[in-house]
Amino acid sequence: MFDFVKRGGLAGVEAGETAICSVGHEANNLTYRGYTIQDLVKFASYEEVAYLLIYGKLPTAKILNEFKQELIKYQSLPPQICNILEQLPATSSPMDVLRTSCSALGNIRPESATNTQYAIATALIPFLVSSLFYWHYFTTSGKKINTVTQQSTIAGHILALLTMQTPNETMRQALNASLILYAEHEFNASTFAARVCVATGADFYGPITAAIATLSGPLHGGANEEAMHLIEKYATPAAAIEGVREMLREKKLIMGFGHRVYKTSDPRTEFIKKIAADVNTERGKTLYAVANAIETEVWDTKKLFPNLDFYSALAYDYLGFPKEMFTPLFVFARVAGWSAHIIEQRANNKLIRPNAAYIGPGVQKFIPLDERKD
Ligand code: ACO
Repeated sequence: MFDFVKRGGLAGVEAGETAICSVGHEANNLTYRGYTIQDLVKFASYEEVAYLLIYGKLPTAKILNEFKQELIKYQSLPPQICNILEQLPATSSPMDVLRTSCSALGNIRPESATNTQYAIATALIPFLVSSLFYWHYFTTSGKKINTVTQQSTIAGHILALLTMQTPNETMRQALNASLILYAEHEFNASTFAARVCVATGADFYGPITAAIATLSGPLHGGANEEAMHLIEKYATPAAAIEGVREMLREKKLIMGFGHRVYKTSDPRTEFIKKIAADVNTERGKTLYAVANAIETEVWDTKKLFPNLDFYSALAYDYLGFPKEMFTPLFVFARVAGWSAHIIEQRANNKLIRPNAAYIGPGVQKFIPLDERKD
Protein backbone atom coordinates (compact mmCIF):
# COMPACT_ATOMS: atom_id res chain seq x y z
CA MET A 1 0.00 0.00 0.00
CA PHE A 2 2.78 2.40 0.93
CA ASP A 3 4.32 1.93 -2.52
CA PHE A 4 1.11 3.10 -4.14
CA VAL A 5 1.12 6.22 -2.00
CA LYS A 6 4.72 6.96 -2.96
CA ARG A 7 3.91 6.58 -6.65
CA GLY A 8 1.08 9.04 -6.12
CA GLY A 9 -2.29 9.61 -7.77
CA LEU A 10 -3.60 6.20 -6.56
CA ALA A 11 -1.88 4.68 -9.60
CA GLY A 12 -2.44 0.94 -9.73
CA VAL A 13 -4.88 0.95 -6.77
CA GLU A 14 -8.19 -0.90 -7.20
CA ALA A 15 -10.36 1.67 -5.44
CA GLY A 16 -13.65 -0.24 -5.69
CA GLU A 17 -15.66 -2.63 -7.84
CA THR A 18 -17.65 -2.01 -11.01
CA ALA A 19 -19.63 -4.10 -13.47
CA ILE A 20 -19.91 -1.23 -15.96
CA CYS A 21 -16.60 -1.03 -17.74
CA SER A 22 -13.35 -2.92 -18.04
CA VAL A 23 -10.25 -0.97 -19.09
CA GLY A 24 -6.94 -2.56 -19.98
CA HIS A 25 -7.47 -5.80 -18.06
CA GLU A 26 -6.33 -7.82 -21.06
CA ALA A 27 -3.73 -5.76 -22.91
CA ASN A 28 -5.54 -2.64 -24.10
CA ASN A 29 -9.10 -3.96 -24.20
CA LEU A 30 -12.12 -1.78 -23.37
CA THR A 31 -15.65 -3.08 -22.80
CA TYR A 32 -18.91 -1.47 -21.69
CA ARG A 33 -21.06 -4.01 -19.81
CA GLY A 34 -19.07 -6.76 -21.52
CA TYR A 35 -19.46 -5.46 -25.08
CA THR A 36 -16.22 -4.51 -26.83
CA ILE A 37 -15.67 -0.93 -27.90
CA GLN A 38 -14.93 -2.29 -31.39
CA ASP A 39 -18.43 -3.82 -31.68
CA LEU A 40 -20.18 -0.87 -30.07
CA VAL A 41 -18.59 1.71 -32.33
CA LYS A 42 -19.28 -0.39 -35.45
CA PHE A 43 -22.82 -1.56 -34.71
CA ALA A 44 -24.47 0.66 -32.08
CA SER A 45 -25.81 4.19 -31.80
CA TYR A 46 -24.85 6.49 -28.92
CA GLU A 47 -28.43 6.22 -27.64
CA GLU A 48 -28.17 2.42 -27.42
CA VAL A 49 -24.86 2.76 -25.58
CA ALA A 50 -26.25 5.36 -23.16
CA TYR A 51 -29.21 3.06 -22.42
CA LEU A 52 -26.84 0.09 -21.99
CA LEU A 53 -24.73 2.02 -19.49
CA ILE A 54 -27.60 3.48 -17.48
CA TYR A 55 -29.93 0.44 -17.44
CA GLY A 56 -27.35 -2.36 -17.70
CA LYS A 57 -28.60 -4.06 -20.88
CA LEU A 58 -29.05 -3.30 -24.56
CA PRO A 59 -32.53 -1.95 -25.37
CA THR A 60 -34.97 -3.67 -27.71
CA ALA A 61 -36.07 -1.63 -30.75
CA LYS A 62 -39.28 -0.62 -28.93
CA ILE A 63 -37.49 0.44 -25.75
CA LEU A 64 -34.85 2.31 -27.74
CA ASN A 65 -37.58 4.23 -29.52
CA GLU A 66 -39.19 5.17 -26.20
CA PHE A 67 -35.80 6.20 -24.81
CA LYS A 68 -35.20 8.45 -27.82
CA GLN A 69 -38.62 10.07 -27.32
CA GLU A 70 -37.60 10.82 -23.73
CA LEU A 71 -34.36 12.37 -24.98
CA ILE A 72 -36.34 14.64 -27.32
CA LYS A 73 -38.69 15.62 -24.48
CA TYR A 74 -35.75 16.97 -22.48
CA GLN A 75 -34.34 19.13 -25.28
CA SER A 76 -36.33 22.10 -24.00
CA LEU A 77 -34.94 24.19 -21.15
CA PRO A 78 -36.93 25.36 -18.10
CA PRO A 79 -37.32 29.20 -18.27
CA GLN A 80 -35.41 29.61 -14.98
CA ILE A 81 -32.42 27.90 -16.58
CA CYS A 82 -32.60 30.25 -19.59
CA ASN A 83 -32.62 33.21 -17.18
CA ILE A 84 -29.54 31.89 -15.38
CA LEU A 85 -27.68 31.19 -18.62
CA GLU A 86 -28.41 34.73 -19.81
CA GLN A 87 -26.62 36.09 -16.72
CA LEU A 88 -23.36 34.25 -17.43
CA PRO A 89 -20.70 36.32 -19.20
CA ALA A 90 -19.60 35.60 -22.78
CA THR A 91 -16.11 35.14 -21.37
CA SER A 92 -17.14 32.15 -19.24
CA SER A 93 -15.54 28.83 -19.98
CA PRO A 94 -18.16 26.57 -21.61
CA MET A 95 -17.25 23.91 -19.04
CA ASP A 96 -18.11 26.34 -16.24
CA VAL A 97 -21.41 27.08 -18.00
CA LEU A 98 -22.25 23.37 -18.01
CA ARG A 99 -21.26 23.02 -14.36
CA THR A 100 -23.53 25.92 -13.38
CA SER A 101 -26.41 24.76 -15.53
CA CYS A 102 -26.32 21.23 -14.11
CA SER A 103 -26.17 22.51 -10.54
CA ALA A 104 -29.02 24.96 -11.18
CA LEU A 105 -31.26 22.22 -12.58
CA GLY A 106 -30.89 20.41 -9.26
CA ASN A 107 -32.78 23.31 -7.65
CA ILE A 108 -35.43 23.57 -10.32
CA ARG A 109 -36.15 19.89 -10.92
CA PRO A 110 -34.85 18.25 -7.72
CA GLU A 111 -34.54 14.52 -7.45
CA SER A 112 -37.71 13.04 -5.95
CA ALA A 113 -39.96 9.99 -6.00
CA THR A 114 -41.35 11.16 -9.34
CA ASN A 115 -38.14 12.67 -10.76
CA THR A 116 -36.11 9.50 -10.31
CA GLN A 117 -32.41 8.87 -10.86
CA TYR A 118 -33.21 7.19 -14.19
CA ALA A 119 -35.29 10.16 -15.35
CA ILE A 120 -32.49 12.57 -14.40
CA ALA A 121 -29.82 10.41 -16.08
CA THR A 122 -31.84 10.54 -19.31
CA ALA A 123 -32.77 14.21 -19.05
CA LEU A 124 -29.24 15.45 -18.42
CA ILE A 125 -27.94 14.22 -21.79
CA PRO A 126 -29.99 16.55 -24.05
CA PHE A 127 -30.29 19.17 -21.29
CA LEU A 128 -26.55 19.80 -21.14
CA VAL A 129 -26.35 20.09 -24.94
CA SER A 130 -29.25 22.56 -25.04
CA SER A 131 -27.80 24.59 -22.15
CA LEU A 132 -24.45 25.10 -23.82
CA PHE A 133 -25.91 26.25 -27.14
CA TYR A 134 -28.55 28.48 -25.51
CA TRP A 135 -25.78 30.30 -23.64
CA HIS A 136 -23.55 30.33 -26.73
CA TYR A 137 -26.08 32.04 -29.02
CA PHE A 138 -27.35 34.39 -26.34
CA THR A 139 -23.89 35.66 -25.45
CA THR A 140 -22.56 35.84 -29.02
CA SER A 141 -25.61 37.30 -30.80
CA GLY A 142 -28.26 38.08 -28.19
CA LYS A 143 -30.56 35.40 -29.71
CA LYS A 144 -32.78 33.32 -27.40
CA ILE A 145 -32.83 30.15 -29.45
CA ASN A 146 -35.43 27.41 -29.33
CA THR A 147 -33.37 24.42 -28.22
CA VAL A 148 -35.92 21.83 -29.35
CA THR A 149 -34.51 20.37 -32.55
CA GLN A 150 -36.69 17.22 -32.64
CA GLN A 151 -33.55 15.33 -33.66
CA SER A 152 -33.89 11.78 -32.36
CA THR A 153 -30.17 11.29 -31.84
CA ILE A 154 -27.83 13.20 -29.56
CA ALA A 155 -25.30 13.66 -32.36
CA GLY A 156 -28.10 15.09 -34.51
CA HIS A 157 -29.25 17.37 -31.68
CA ILE A 158 -25.71 18.70 -31.14
CA LEU A 159 -25.07 19.33 -34.85
CA ALA A 160 -28.50 20.87 -35.43
CA LEU A 161 -27.81 23.37 -32.64
CA LEU A 162 -24.26 24.03 -33.84
CA THR A 163 -25.22 24.72 -37.45
CA MET A 164 -28.92 25.65 -37.06
CA GLN A 165 -29.50 23.35 -40.04
CA THR A 166 -30.50 19.74 -40.60
CA PRO A 167 -27.34 17.76 -39.84
CA ASN A 168 -25.28 16.24 -42.61
CA GLU A 169 -25.54 12.43 -42.20
CA THR A 170 -21.81 11.68 -42.62
CA MET A 171 -20.97 14.25 -39.97
CA ARG A 172 -23.70 12.95 -37.69
CA GLN A 173 -22.28 9.44 -37.92
CA ALA A 174 -18.76 10.69 -37.18
CA LEU A 175 -19.98 12.52 -34.09
CA ASN A 176 -22.06 9.50 -33.05
CA ALA A 177 -18.88 7.35 -33.12
CA SER A 178 -16.95 9.84 -31.02
CA LEU A 179 -19.78 10.00 -28.44
CA ILE A 180 -19.64 6.19 -28.11
CA LEU A 181 -15.85 6.25 -27.66
CA TYR A 182 -16.13 8.89 -24.93
CA ALA A 183 -19.20 7.49 -23.13
CA GLU A 184 -17.49 5.55 -20.36
CA HIS A 185 -14.06 4.72 -18.93
CA GLU A 186 -14.18 3.00 -15.53
CA PHE A 187 -12.62 4.87 -12.54
CA ASN A 188 -11.19 7.85 -14.43
CA ALA A 189 -10.81 11.05 -12.39
CA SER A 190 -14.23 12.59 -13.14
CA THR A 191 -16.12 9.33 -12.57
CA PHE A 192 -14.25 8.73 -9.34
CA ALA A 193 -15.12 12.27 -8.20
CA ALA A 194 -18.79 11.51 -8.95
CA ARG A 195 -18.64 8.28 -6.95
CA VAL A 196 -16.97 9.99 -3.96
CA CYS A 197 -19.64 12.67 -4.00
CA VAL A 198 -22.66 10.38 -4.33
CA ALA A 199 -21.28 7.97 -1.72
CA THR A 200 -21.97 10.63 0.93
CA GLY A 201 -25.67 10.42 0.09
CA ALA A 202 -25.72 13.53 -2.12
CA ASP A 203 -28.48 14.00 -4.73
CA PHE A 204 -27.97 13.05 -8.39
CA TYR A 205 -26.99 16.52 -9.59
CA GLY A 206 -24.13 17.00 -7.09
CA PRO A 207 -21.91 14.19 -8.42
CA ILE A 208 -22.53 15.17 -12.04
CA THR A 209 -21.57 18.76 -11.19
CA ALA A 210 -18.41 17.49 -9.46
CA ALA A 211 -17.63 15.31 -12.46
CA ILE A 212 -17.94 18.22 -14.91
CA ALA A 213 -15.56 20.28 -12.77
CA THR A 214 -13.10 17.40 -12.59
CA LEU A 215 -13.22 16.73 -16.32
CA SER A 216 -12.39 20.33 -17.16
CA GLY A 217 -8.69 20.10 -16.26
CA PRO A 218 -6.06 19.71 -19.00
CA LEU A 219 -4.75 16.43 -17.55
CA HIS A 220 -8.21 14.91 -18.15
CA GLY A 221 -10.92 16.11 -20.56
CA GLY A 222 -9.30 19.47 -21.21
CA ALA A 223 -6.51 17.68 -23.10
CA ASN A 224 -8.39 17.67 -26.43
CA GLU A 225 -8.46 21.48 -26.54
CA GLU A 226 -4.78 21.65 -25.61
CA ALA A 227 -3.94 19.08 -28.31
CA MET A 228 -5.60 21.30 -30.90
CA HIS A 229 -3.58 24.33 -29.74
CA LEU A 230 -0.43 22.25 -30.20
CA ILE A 231 -1.31 20.88 -33.66
CA GLU A 232 -2.39 24.29 -34.96
CA LYS A 233 0.90 25.83 -33.87
CA TYR A 234 2.80 24.13 -36.70
CA ALA A 235 2.40 24.86 -40.40
CA THR A 236 4.29 21.77 -41.57
CA PRO A 237 5.20 18.29 -40.31
CA ALA A 238 8.89 19.28 -40.26
CA ALA A 239 8.17 22.26 -38.00
CA ALA A 240 6.07 20.00 -35.75
CA ILE A 241 8.86 17.45 -35.38
CA GLU A 242 11.33 20.19 -34.48
CA GLY A 243 8.91 21.83 -32.01
CA VAL A 244 7.87 18.64 -30.26
CA ARG A 245 11.48 17.42 -30.03
CA GLU A 246 12.29 20.68 -28.23
CA MET A 247 9.30 20.27 -25.89
CA LEU A 248 10.35 16.75 -24.97
CA ARG A 249 13.93 17.91 -24.38
CA GLU A 250 12.50 20.50 -21.97
CA LYS A 251 10.38 17.76 -20.32
CA LYS A 252 7.14 19.48 -21.29
CA LEU A 253 3.89 17.49 -21.49
CA ILE A 254 2.54 16.75 -24.96
CA MET A 255 -1.20 16.97 -24.53
CA GLY A 256 -3.22 14.06 -25.91
CA PHE A 257 -0.43 11.54 -25.24
CA GLY A 258 0.01 8.88 -22.56
CA HIS A 259 -2.49 7.21 -20.30
CA ARG A 260 -2.67 6.11 -16.69
CA VAL A 261 -3.99 2.62 -17.50
CA TYR A 262 -3.12 1.76 -21.12
CA LYS A 263 0.57 1.12 -21.57
CA THR A 264 0.97 0.36 -25.30
CA SER A 265 -1.96 2.04 -27.09
CA ASP A 266 -5.45 3.45 -26.55
CA PRO A 267 -7.99 1.16 -28.29
CA ARG A 268 -10.22 4.15 -29.08
CA THR A 269 -7.57 5.98 -31.05
CA GLU A 270 -7.78 3.91 -34.26
CA PHE A 271 -11.46 4.85 -34.69
CA ILE A 272 -11.12 8.56 -34.04
CA LYS A 273 -7.92 8.67 -36.10
CA LYS A 274 -9.74 7.15 -39.07
CA ILE A 275 -12.35 9.93 -38.92
CA ALA A 276 -9.55 12.52 -38.93
CA ALA A 277 -7.68 10.69 -41.73
CA ASP A 278 -10.73 10.62 -44.02
CA VAL A 279 -11.17 14.40 -43.95
CA ASN A 280 -10.77 15.75 -47.45
CA THR A 281 -10.37 19.49 -46.91
CA GLU A 282 -7.02 21.30 -47.33
CA ARG A 283 -7.08 22.34 -43.67
CA GLY A 284 -7.98 18.81 -42.55
CA LYS A 285 -5.17 17.26 -44.61
CA THR A 286 -2.56 19.71 -43.29
CA LEU A 287 -3.66 19.23 -39.67
CA TYR A 288 -3.59 15.46 -40.11
CA ALA A 289 -0.07 15.50 -41.57
CA VAL A 290 1.15 17.64 -38.67
CA ALA A 291 -0.61 15.42 -36.11
CA ASN A 292 0.85 12.31 -37.68
CA ALA A 293 4.35 13.77 -37.51
CA ILE A 294 3.83 14.61 -33.82
CA GLU A 295 2.60 11.06 -33.17
CA THR A 296 5.69 9.52 -34.80
CA GLU A 297 8.11 11.85 -33.01
CA VAL A 298 6.55 11.32 -29.56
CA TRP A 299 6.52 7.55 -30.06
CA ASP A 300 10.12 7.43 -31.34
CA THR A 301 11.44 9.63 -28.54
CA LYS A 302 9.31 8.68 -25.52
CA LYS A 303 7.35 5.56 -26.56
CA LEU A 304 4.17 7.45 -25.72
CA PHE A 305 1.06 6.88 -27.86
CA PRO A 306 -1.84 9.23 -28.64
CA ASN A 307 -4.87 8.82 -26.38
CA LEU A 308 -8.45 9.45 -27.53
CA ASP A 309 -8.09 13.19 -27.01
CA PHE A 310 -5.36 13.73 -29.61
CA TYR A 311 -7.13 12.85 -32.84
CA SER A 312 -10.58 13.75 -31.50
CA ALA A 313 -9.33 17.35 -31.63
CA LEU A 314 -9.00 16.99 -35.43
CA ALA A 315 -12.34 15.22 -35.76
CA TYR A 316 -14.11 18.01 -33.87
CA ASP A 317 -12.34 20.69 -35.86
CA TYR A 318 -13.55 19.01 -39.06
CA LEU A 319 -17.10 18.85 -37.69
CA GLY A 320 -16.98 22.62 -37.24
CA PHE A 321 -16.75 22.94 -33.45
CA PRO A 322 -14.74 25.79 -31.94
CA LYS A 323 -11.93 24.57 -29.66
CA GLU A 324 -13.64 25.65 -26.47
CA MET A 325 -16.49 23.23 -27.21
CA PHE A 326 -14.23 20.16 -27.46
CA THR A 327 -14.30 19.36 -23.74
CA PRO A 328 -18.08 19.99 -23.49
CA LEU A 329 -18.48 17.35 -26.22
CA PHE A 330 -16.70 14.96 -23.86
CA VAL A 331 -19.30 15.87 -21.20
CA PHE A 332 -22.23 15.19 -23.55
CA ALA A 333 -20.92 11.66 -24.06
CA ARG A 334 -19.55 10.86 -20.60
CA VAL A 335 -22.65 11.98 -18.69
CA ALA A 336 -24.14 8.54 -19.49
CA GLY A 337 -21.13 6.81 -17.91
CA TRP A 338 -21.18 9.07 -14.86
CA SER A 339 -24.88 8.35 -14.36
CA ALA A 340 -24.27 4.60 -14.59
CA HIS A 341 -21.59 4.87 -11.88
CA ILE A 342 -23.80 6.97 -9.60
CA ILE A 343 -26.57 4.37 -9.87
CA GLU A 344 -24.09 1.53 -9.29
CA GLN A 345 -22.49 3.26 -6.28
CA ARG A 346 -25.89 3.82 -4.68
CA ALA A 347 -26.91 0.20 -5.20
CA ASN A 348 -24.14 -1.00 -2.85
CA ASN A 349 -23.02 2.14 -1.10
CA LYS A 350 -20.20 2.66 1.34
CA LEU A 351 -18.76 6.08 2.17
CA ILE A 352 -15.47 6.57 0.27
CA ARG A 353 -13.02 7.86 2.83
CA PRO A 354 -9.44 6.59 2.57
CA ASN A 355 -6.57 7.33 4.97
CA ALA A 356 -3.60 9.56 4.26
CA ALA A 357 0.05 8.86 5.00
CA TYR A 358 0.93 11.76 7.32
CA ILE A 359 4.13 13.59 6.33
CA GLY A 360 3.72 16.77 8.44
CA PRO A 361 5.55 17.90 11.61
CA GLY A 362 5.32 16.11 14.94
CA VAL A 363 3.24 17.62 17.77
CA GLN A 364 4.34 21.26 18.30
CA LYS A 365 3.98 23.63 21.23
CA PHE A 366 1.24 26.20 20.47
CA ILE A 367 2.57 29.81 20.30
CA PRO A 368 0.09 32.54 21.36
CA LEU A 369 -0.65 35.15 18.65
CA ASP A 370 1.22 38.04 20.28
CA GLU A 371 4.38 35.94 20.73
CA ARG A 372 4.75 34.88 17.07
CA LYS A 373 7.61 36.26 14.99
CA ASP A 374 7.95 36.64 11.18
N1 ACO B 1 4.04 14.13 -22.64
C1 ACO B 1 5.31 14.00 -22.23
N2 ACO B 1 5.68 13.16 -21.28
C2 ACO B 1 4.74 12.39 -20.72
C3 ACO B 1 3.38 12.47 -21.11
C4 ACO B 1 3.05 13.38 -22.11
N3 ACO B 1 1.80 13.51 -22.52
N4 ACO B 1 2.68 11.58 -20.38
C5 ACO B 1 3.52 10.98 -19.58
N5 ACO B 1 4.77 11.47 -19.78
C6 ACO B 1 5.98 11.07 -19.12
C7 ACO B 1 6.04 11.63 -17.72
O1 ACO B 1 6.61 12.92 -17.69
C8 ACO B 1 6.89 10.59 -17.02
O2 ACO B 1 8.23 10.80 -17.44
P1 ACO B 1 9.44 10.52 -16.43
O3 ACO B 1 9.35 9.06 -16.11
O4 ACO B 1 10.64 10.92 -17.21
O5 ACO B 1 9.18 11.39 -15.23
C9 ACO B 1 6.43 9.30 -17.65
O6 ACO B 1 5.96 9.65 -18.95
C10 ACO B 1 5.34 8.60 -16.87
O7 ACO B 1 4.24 9.48 -16.78
P2 ACO B 1 3.29 9.65 -15.52
O8 ACO B 1 3.13 11.10 -15.23
O9 ACO B 1 3.74 8.77 -14.39
O10 ACO B 1 1.95 9.06 -16.06
P3 ACO B 1 0.56 9.23 -15.34
O11 ACO B 1 -0.06 7.90 -15.35
O12 ACO B 1 0.65 9.90 -14.03
O13 ACO B 1 -0.16 10.27 -16.28
C11 ACO B 1 -1.50 11.26 -17.88
C12 ACO B 1 -1.14 9.94 -17.19
C13 ACO B 1 -1.98 12.27 -16.81
C14 ACO B 1 -2.63 10.99 -18.85
C15 ACO B 1 -0.25 11.80 -18.60
O14 ACO B 1 0.16 10.88 -19.59
C16 ACO B 1 -0.49 13.17 -19.18
O15 ACO B 1 -0.37 14.16 -18.48
N6 ACO B 1 -0.84 13.22 -20.50
C17 ACO B 1 -1.16 14.49 -21.12
C18 ACO B 1 -2.57 14.91 -20.77
C19 ACO B 1 -3.60 14.06 -21.49
O16 ACO B 1 -3.46 13.74 -22.66
N7 ACO B 1 -4.67 13.74 -20.76
C20 ACO B 1 -5.78 12.96 -21.34
C21 ACO B 1 -5.92 11.64 -20.63
S1 ACO B 1 -6.97 10.53 -21.51
C22 ACO B 1 -8.52 11.20 -21.44
O17 ACO B 1 -8.89 11.99 -20.59
C23 ACO B 1 -9.46 10.74 -22.55
